[in-house]
Amino acid sequence: MSPIATSTTRYSRILGTGSFLPADRVTNQALADRLAADGVETSDDWIVERTGIRARHFAAPDQTASDLALPAAQAALEAAGIAAEEIDLIIVATSTPDMVFPSTACMLQKKLGVHGCAAFDVQAVCSGFVYALSVADSMIKSGAANKALIVGAEVFSRILDFKDRTTCVLFGDGAGAVVLGASSEPGILATELHADSRHVDVLCTPGTVAGGQVLGSPFLKMDGQAVFKLAVGVLEKVARSVLEKAGLTEADLDWLIPHQANIRIMQGTAKKLKLDLNKLIATVDEHGNTSAASVPLALDVAVRNGRIQRGDTLMLEGVGGGFTWGAALLKY
Ligand code: ACO
Repeated sequence: MSPIATSTTRYSRILGTGSFLPADRVTNQALADRLAADGVETSDDWIVERTGIRARHFAAPDQTASDLALPAAQAALEAAGIAAEEIDLIIVATSTPDMVFPSTACMLQKKLGVHGCAAFDVQAVCSGFVYALSVADSMIKSGAANKALIVGAEVFSRILDFKDRTTCVLFGDGAGAVVLGASSEPGILATELHADSRHVDVLCTPGTVAGGQVLGSPFLKMDGQAVFKLAVGVLEKVARSVLEKAGLTEADLDWLIPHQANIRIMQGTAKKLKLDLNKLIATVDEHGNTSAASVPLALDVAVRNGRIQRGDTLMLEGVGGGFTWGAALLKY
């Protein structure tokens, strides 16, 4: 990484976005039919009413997180007009990495056909993308990086217990990416990250690998109601806090892009912030909860369908296992 000296204030700015969904789109009804074959009962009505989810995408058995990250990253690079060789920092946010190590970011670097730049993963579950964006913003502002590729990529289908209807209907696979570059114009206005480890148990995949075996459960476990209550409270608080840091108010927001877990949590957050629901970007209906991929996926969809325009003020918010949460306020 080669720092560039500047006399003006240095910010980071999104230069381009991209995303990718695996081909297998599974509707609620198709999932209910699959589950019924194993004696697990659910319905399209139940899933839509409680979550707003209508479909999700599942990766093929041989598709890894870096396989999904690659086309998302390539689309973001193309939108930014940047060659992969120009990137000097790669951060992948994921809780479903290709392997124990090397990092999924290194796997992505290899697939992009470049080498030499810093590459590492961030593990903050569904807050991962906001965490990664905040780290990249700090590195760019400090001069430690000039052009960063930040990707959220997940294959949550790998850690779902398809015998547990309380969790397996909620999640999907996918990837979203942004290219962040140094700029004399803001850019990212403020970020804030939090974790409260008193709640490690409400959402976890507690298994680990030891002695050639998986020790503990390799499946996602969640106390849905506890997560729901925690999420609504922290999402409002952190949004207000980053607005205050930037000297803005809710009235200045053009778009709210919260973690796409459940439409009721998302609408509840928008209402607490007194935002018109038209300002809420929601893709949970089509993507399900894709954990660290959910925010950049929703961002890219809204950029590409023209809802988000250059100069708009965006609030990105993550919340998830750990318990972690955070927000990034930015001018697109
Ligand atoms: N299909 C049909 N019935 C179901 C299903 C299902 N898929 N899942 C649960 N039920 C049943 C339960 O067994 C229960 O039946 P009972 O009353 O006979 O016992 C009934 O539905 C109600 O169950 P609850 O758990 O009370 O349902 P709730 O209204 O709380 O909704 C949900 C559950 C959707 C998980 C909700 O709690 C929620 O959205 N929580 C937040 C989850 C979340 O956002 N997680 C992700 C955030 S962090 C991250 O992204 C990793």
